[in-house]
Amino acid sequence: MAEKDNNSVSLTINGREISVPKGTTILEAAKQLGIYIPTFCWHPKLKPAGACRICYVEIEKMPKLMVSCATPVAPGMIVHTESEKVKQGRRAVLEFTLINHPLDCPTCDKGGECDLQDLTFRHGVDQSRFDFDKYRFIRDKKSTFDDFRLGPEIIRNQNRCILCYKCVRANTEIFGEDDLGAFQRGNITEIDTPPGRQVDSLYSGNLVEICPVGALTNTDWRYKIRVWNTQTVNSICPYHADGANIKIWKDRQNVFRVTSRRNDAIDEGWLSDVTRYGYQIAKPEGRLLNPLMKKGGSQVAVTWEEALSAIARKFKDIKDNKGGVCIGGMISPQLDCTSVYAFSKFFRTIIHSNNVDFRTEYRMLPEIPEDMYSRMASQEFSIADIEKADLIMVLDSDIMKEHPNVNLRIRKAITQKGARLYTLNPVETKTGALSVDEMVFRVGTLEALLNGVCAGLAEAGSASKKGDTAALKKCLEPHTVKDAAQISGISEERIKAFARAVAHAQRPCLIAGEWLTESSMREKLAGAVHNLALLGSLYEKGQIGLLARAANSKGAKKLGALPHPGPGMIEKMRQTWGEYPDVPGLASDRMIRASVKQELDALFIVGVNPMLTMPDGQFVREGLEKLDFLVVADLYESETTQMADVVLPLSSWAEYGDRFVNLEGRVQEFQDAIKPLGQSRPGYMIVNDLAAQLKSPLFSEKSRFADEVDTFLNENSVMPVPETLVEVRFMEDKINPEFPTPMLVVDQEHHFGHWTEKTKSLSVFCGEAAVEISSALAEKIGVVNGDIIRIESEVGKVNLPARISETIDAEVILVYRNFSASPVNILQMRKRRVDRVKITRVES
Ligand code: SF4
Ligand code: SF4
Ligand code: FES
Repeated sequence: MAEKDNNSVSLTINGREISVPKGTTILEAAKQLGIYIPTFCWHPKLKPAGACRICYVEIEKMPKLMVSCATPVAPGMIVHTESEKVKQGRRAVLEFTLINHPLDCPTCDKGGECDLQDLTFRHGVDQSRFDFDKYRFIRDKKSTFDDFRLGPEIIRNQNRCILCYKCVRANTEIFGEDDLGAFQRGNITEIDTPPGRQVDSLYSGNLVEICPVGALTNTDWRYKIRVWNTQTVNSICPYHADGANIKIWKDRQNVFRVTSRRNDAIDEGWLSDVTRYGYQIAKPEGRLLNPLMKKGGSQVAVTWEEALSAIARKFKDIKDNKGGVCIGGMISPQLDCTSVYAFSKFFRTIIHSNNVDFRTEYRMLPEIPEDMYSRMASQEFSIADIEKADLIMVLDSDIMKEHPNVNLRIRKAITQKGARLYTLNPVETKTGALSVDEMVFRVGTLEALLNGVCAGLAEAGSASKKGDTAALKKCLEPHTVKDAAQISGISEERIKAFARAVAHAQRPCLIAGEWLTESSMREKLAGAVHNLALLGSLYEKGQIGLLARAANSKGAKKLGALPHPGPGMIEKMRQTWGEYPDVPGLASDRMIRASVKQELDALFIVGVNPMLTMPDGQFVREGLEKLDFLVVADLYESETTQMADVVLPLSSWAEYGDRFVNLEGRVQEFQDAIKPLGQSRPGYMIVNDLAAQLKSPLFSEKSRFADEVDTFLNENSVMPVPETLVEVRFMEDKINPEFPTPMLVVDQEHHFGHWTEKTKSLSVFCGEAAVEISSALAEKIGVVNGDIIRIESEVGKVNLPARISETIDAEVILVYRNFSASPVNILQMRKRRVDRVKITRVES
């Protein structure tokens, strides 16, 4: 058999010839031919372990059976996968595996989808030659099935474990965790956590999903239903902008679990726990199931008809008497394309207002599109291409919490492809631990640091390629590495080393995240990133992602759910709709300000909870209180719905089908798993019903309307970037000495937005709100773990238990958002770049 080229190998499997690249395993080659070989310990994304031996094949001229998952192909190899010798080998492996395995199938939760059960039926023998008592692991005598909890959502039954080590391998190889291992030896080997630890990383649910048997199960799914009584529907994660592909398992009106639906371009089959357990928002517990209307000071249940006609009456009254500009709308970027589009169209064509926004967590939003930021954020970005990078830079982002799948791709690029990572963040992050240099700069000094890197690049000769160095200096303030080092707290050597790394990179990849997006300085920061990109030739050689955070942030932007969607988009809207209101629009923070000044009369809020998430909670309360009329549609009762005149029950994404646009701009469809719960309705239906009451419906057939949405989604939204450097000047933040400590508002690892707190599984992971504080700062104010700390800013105060962190810098505290009991947004200032607070110990 002639080889096709030096890099390919030809062989024969079951009489069929195939050529595959060198290094391919026999198992992979057989898969390409559609030949099935059973496996337990093999996983497409893990290094082969050769632990279980069920994948035996016979290779001519080899005396013994070989494991196909760990044996690379060789030229001229002749392989048999179904010979009598192979079948005997498999039977022997199964017999051995079952020596101590309990006969639990009728009660075991893996029954019906268990590889061991299936293979025993297919290849095994129904008699055992071993007639001694089975070894039994007993940790807790009271436990019926020898169950042992390894973490908030993982139960282990060691008796069922076949020691394939997939869980331990994935945990370290893919997720970089060390909270699970194999302890002891031989037949008393146990899969367990190190003393005092539990399996609670953001990726813990994957370990349950890849366990081939019922040794690892989760409380979410176990004992609720048998797998053969369920059906699956294809869906997309409704939380992160990564757009992980998922399957929802359901039976009639009940949803039972979410598992992965591997898409190698996005998730490679790995899900964050937020994606996996966050589906519980599609359960009826705690959900708003019917419309409510304020009558005599309290909210009472009403019909949809009554609720919608009351809203229509009020909106019409305001519009006729004061103008549509006195009505505003905020919508969640976690809602689907049809809903955000319908919302924008409703406001523009029926209310005649441009007061529309999906950005409700950011401060100092411009009404007109941010030029540099929008341009940078519109650049093409591919998750899979992260793997091709030799240099990865993560700026202003705790990337694991914001984009769990992007984070895994970065890990893969580093651990499997040799990429080098630099992180530039105001605080240490888990991802930063993988970096060549984790640059933790002084809060609020990123543009100074980036200017320093640009100056470093100029020294390395990069500036001269793009223009003269004197011009560069004129653009940047500070313009020397030395000054940047002094301001940012990162030494000159480190800045220069990073600049050299950028200059030498062949395929650089720069990712910026939430801290940049939500900063009042986002425009300046985007300019600093642009300068770096220009000097480092990132536009030509690599990719840049200023990444949106929520499942449909990119869609909401593309579909114009902004006060000023950009000139091209406005023109398209005008053409498509035949009209566009010629009035200025207010961004979400300005809507609140307008309401405080009594210039806005009504707000229509869909799927967001500004009372918990918008900076300066007290000001937000004042704004909402001063409204004449507040309508809120949401899944759950919230601090914001409690203030509403009309509350509308919103359906979760699992209750209808539509689309999300992920951070790459990929439009992905999700299907309805169940019907809307109670009387809830999808966002687009609520908007359309209201449109029908006010004027005429936006659509009579959703599929036709989807075509209209498509024309907007198909628009190329990549904006050109300037070819020259832009001016970026650092300005020192003004500090009120009474409030010296910088505070960062972050998500707890298992939290995303205000819905996840309502889900049973994620709330167990999240526990209580807390303030993360360095041991140095804790010592200074005399607190130990769990002590209550009073945090005061110029606008509010909150008491939180201390969580002492060994990884965070002495100067910063981290507070967790999205905990209803401790709304930390009341500490945030609307106009400040950096939130600064005073912290004191609360005497018990
Ligand atoms: S792990 Fe599989 S074979 Fe073992 S008891 Fe459970 S279903 Fe049966
Ligand atoms: S617990 Fe499951 S995945 Fe882990 S080693 Fe045992 S069988 Fe394999
Ligand atoms: S699948 Fe090949 S040894 Fe386990």
